[in-house]
Amino acid sequence: MDFLQLTQLRHSVRHYATRPVEPEKIDYILECARLAPSAVNKQPWRFILVRSEEARAKVQRCYPREWFAEAPLYIIICAVETEAWVRPCDSKNHADIDAAIATEHICLAAADRGLGSCWVCNFDKSMLQELFQIPSGAHPVAIVPIGYPAETERPEPRRKPMEQLCCEDRFPVNTDETK
Ligand SMILES: Cc1cc2nc3c(=O)[nH]c(=O)nc-3n(C[C@H](O)[C@H](O)[C@H](O)COP(=O)(O)O)c2cc1C
Repeated sequence: MDFLQLTQLRHSVRHYATRPVEPEKIDYILECARLAPSAVNKQPWRFILVRSEEARAKVQRCYPREWFAEAPLYIIICAVETEAWVRPCDSKNHADIDAAIATEHICLAAADRGLGSCWVCNFDKSMLQELFQIPSGAHPVAIVPIGYPAETERPEPRRKPMEQLCCEDRFPVNTDETK
């Protein structure tokens, strides 16, 4: 499988089988997250692996959706702002960007191992922060449910056409006046 095939394979899985995920696959996924790049190599992230019934129930309270509760495990990706690179010219803190890269490594690594995943950001942030005792100075960026997909088929990816997205030597502008 080449990288294009892997990116085509990864999609948001919202239906999971009960089959447990092998520990070595979890290790593989976490190692791929650990190796993600970050600004000035600050690695301003933490990962909370959620597997026990008790901890799963806590995560599910923060994003109460039937499909989400099916997942056998979750990884909560946290950004540690106090550890991240801050761009001098505008004081932009890069913790979120770094944590997002690690999150996508997790999703791609899961797909590579035959597992489904989904970015989830629409959770109750203060509840998650409290339930998992995430200290101030850090914040949860995403919850990624992981498990074997129980879907029958993969949906066609809906993406904007390349002409709208990429231009040589200039910012792409939409030339289609009807839109
Ligand atoms: C930053 C981010 C936040 C997202 N949050 C949610 C979410 O809270 N719930 C959800 O069901 N999907 C969420 N998604 C999944 C997107 O809806 C999905 O990636 C997008 O529709 C493209 O579909 P695909 O992942 O199947 O290619 C999120 C994706 C990203 C990148």
